[in-house]
Amino acid sequence: MGQTVACANQKGGVGKTTTVVNLATYLALAGQRILVLDLDPQGNATSGFGLDRGTLERSIYDAVIADATLGSLIARTAVDGLSLVPASIALAGAEVELAPFQRRERRLARLLGEVSDAYDYIFVDCPPSLGLLTVNALTAADAVLIPIQCEYYALEGLTQLIATINLVRDHLNPALAIKGVVLTMYDARTNLSVEVKAEVRRHLGAAVFETVIPRSVRLSEAPSYGLPIALYRPDSKGADAYQALAAEFLGRDGRLPAAAPAPPASVTTPPPGSPGRTGSAAAGVADGPGGAS
Ligand SMILES: Nc1ncnc2c1ncn2[C@@H]1O[C@H](COP(=O)(O)OP(=O)(O)OP(=O)(O)O)[C@@H](O)[C@H]1O
Ligand SMILES: [Mg+2]
Repeated sequence: MGQTVACANQKGGVGKTTTVVNLATYLALAGQRILVLDLDPQGNATSGFGLDRGTLERSIYDAVIADATLGSLIARTAVDGLSLVPASIALAGAEVELAPFQRRERRLARLLGEVSDAYDYIFVDCPPSLGLLTVNALTAADAVLIPIQCEYYALEGLTQLIATINLVRDHLNPALAIKGVVLTMYDARTNLSVEVKAEVRRHLGAAVFETVIPRSVRLSEAPSYGLPIALYRPDSKGADAYQALAAEFLGRDGRLPAAAPAPPASVTTPPPGSPGRTGSAAAGVADGPGGAS
């Protein structure tokens, strides 16, 4: 049975979708069978894989609210081994439409049973809220992956997310695990990024992936081409980082040697104060005390 991973953080713009799209892609390129569910009405994972959510006739909405099967909604993507159930604008009304349903928190969990054998990992991209869609994702998931942006107030909101995870564990899904925390948009040139990284590691320890995702213009450009970074700019710093994250992710699951992956040759820790660099995945790999033991 595939492992379902919900990517969640009710804070907006912290890198949930970028992490789902690019981590899922590198896992597929490593031979894992991947399904991505876009559970965000914004549909950013859908457009990130090049599908136009405005013209889609059917989407995950039809499964969550109506009676379509997930299998009937699966679309192929440009990435071999990676399929997608897209989101559409209709999903924006789903929170309200779900309210009268019996067992409304378990709609997604019920749907996943039918497809999960066909995949190694199923990623759910959550919207930036702790509403019913995210609760459905947490109820259906084996584990939750939490991206945290390296910025001021990075830990603010995490308490609320952890409280929600605990509530879901108590009432809906006792087996829900924390897959890990991914630090995103790291900029090694700023003291703030360095401090936030240290602070998050101090609080969350081994839950934090050693691989840190640097701030990278290429990562922010890729969605406008409808491509994951692996197909848009595989030689970029952001690509190296998500590839390293995929290797670490598989290592933690015992699907690769557990040793941290060697940083790619093109990724080096910049000397302090060096101009023109926008951070480094290797900085996270090299100096992090936390991570998988
Ligand atoms: N490492 C990065 N470097 C530079 N830009 C990034 C990086 N990660 C994400 N971005 C950009 O930051 C913005 C927010 O990222 P993303 O959409 O992944 O966050 P999100 O948490 O899914 O947002 P939302 O809460 O709205 O769903 C996007 O424009 C994205 O392209
Ligand atoms: Mg998003």
